[in-house]
Amino acid sequence: MNFEDKVVYQIYPKSFYDSNNDGIGDLNGITEKLDYIKYLGVDYIWITPFFISPQRDNGYDVADYCNIDPTYGTMEDFDRLSAEAKKRGIGIMLDMVFNHTSTEHKWFKKALAGEKKYQDFYIFKKGEKGNSPTNWVSKFGGNAWEYVKELESYYLHLFDKTQADLNWENPEVREEIYKVVKFWLDKGVNGFRFDVVNLISKPEKFENDYEGDGRRFYTDGPKIHEYLKGLNQNTFGQKNDIITVGEMSSTSMENCFKYSGKKENELSMVFNFHHLKVDYKNKDKWALQPFDFQELKDILNSWQVGMQEHDAWSALFWCNHDQPRIVSRLGDDKNFWKKSAKMLGTVIHMLRGTPYIYQGEEIGMTNAYFDNISQYRDVESTNYHKILMNNGLSDEEAMKVVMERSRDNGRTPMQWSDEINGGFSKGTPWIESIKNYRDINVKNQIDDEESILNHYRKLIALRKKYRVIALGKTIPLAEKDKNIYMFKREFKNEELLVINNFYGTSCEINLDFDIEGYECILSNGDMNKKLDKNLKLEAYDSFVFYRKK
Ligand code: NOJ
Repeated sequence: MNFEDKVVYQIYPKSFYDSNNDGIGDLNGITEKLDYIKYLGVDYIWITPFFISPQRDNGYDVADYCNIDPTYGTMEDFDRLSAEAKKRGIGIMLDMVFNHTSTEHKWFKKALAGEKKYQDFYIFKKGEKGNSPTNWVSKFGGNAWEYVKELESYYLHLFDKTQADLNWENPEVREEIYKVVKFWLDKGVNGFRFDVVNLISKPEKFENDYEGDGRRFYTDGPKIHEYLKGLNQNTFGQKNDIITVGEMSSTSMENCFKYSGKKENELSMVFNFHHLKVDYKNKDKWALQPFDFQELKDILNSWQVGMQEHDAWSALFWCNHDQPRIVSRLGDDKNFWKKSAKMLGTVIHMLRGTPYIYQGEEIGMTNAYFDNISQYRDVESTNYHKILMNNGLSDEEAMKVVMERSRDNGRTPMQWSDEINGGFSKGTPWIESIKNYRDINVKNQIDDEESILNHYRKLIALRKKYRVIALGKTIPLAEKDKNIYMFKREFKNEELLVINNFYGTSCEINLDFDIEGYECILSNGDMNKKLDKNLKLEAYDSFVFYRKK
């Protein structure tokens, strides 16, 4: 099964639509909005975890993989959502978190109660001389090991201390995981996103990292390909129409060739995050710098070329529930809000890979700009606010960083209309709505041909209409240009030329190749634009040209 012409829409249920007005979005809320999703034209919805969970990390701390958390609804609600989605030709992708479970999971509780069998489900180790087994750092800040007095040992948690890492080395763990995947396959789901799945294979020897935070020992670990092949063969690989995507944290391209290679039988495609670190100073998420445009282009281009040369497949994206909003990040949400949002959408959707749209991106939702730490809900944000202050920053300085980098920027309620809370809920939302919902909302954009929303609909429709968009190979152009990101796509006798100005100033470019016969099929400005050897672009201009040879 190929996914070249498909588009996925990501839903963060907690913030999508609240059908019972308790302030928290729910499964019935998704069902109510299926017509909207259908209207967008996407093929799949990926729903982030709604399984039983203490919600310490908004559902990425799963306590029971096969039951629904009551805050989101019931199994009947899920079955109804699934049936209604099917009627509309929309597939459902679930988000499976198998690197760790919540410490509220029955396996972990049994481990704590002294059952050897379940202790071996996790990574328990003795420390030495009162020190934790290694000096690794948790992704949410602090030590990655938590001491359990009764067991006189530590357990590993690469994320929050309530998210204990599973021991994939143990075949019984793998069997249990296969059962979970099969349970959902039997329920008729169409695909899966696997959370930080390239971290599941831990090294044989646990040692201190004197160069970094420990990630080099467990990222794309020693048995990762074996585990993924096993997962594939024993579960979704037995069907031929299941879409799978792996979230690959700090991965390498060489490993992604395997994860998503056509003949490898691991996953359909991969997310990597390198292009979203170009505004990290010295690779530190919590240190700000303006984005490095050259680095962004180099990363996008090298992944496009590398992956196609190896018959491997990328998931394309700017936004998700862990990322700040792209229009506030790489665009200009004040002076060129609409234009820059459309330009950024065009870039992602015209590349080779499967585009993912994160709820609200299609209407140009912005960062939250919450300036008080009490407005934040995310465990990572509140931890790092403390860490930054402990490192000597003032509250004001720390807030400046959190405001830009917090994952909550992408988690504010979906803006449906100009009604209270943007039409998300009549209750008090679990996290505040952004005040700009009065202007930025679905209702405002739906009938406006020129809206960001309709631009995204066009992008989705184009992928289905032109084979070159789905299947073409990418050829980077103007690789060193200071303002423009330009590339060509080629498939048989079809050609696509995509030209984007990433800045709020006009610029010019010399097109030193054959430009005969191209016609503009999409733009965020002048649709009558003609290609010229000396092409002038206005602020954030974006054009897609097409020709048949
Ligand atoms: C990646 C998920 O996208 C993120 O939200 C979560 O906190 C971590 N994995 C841990 O599960």
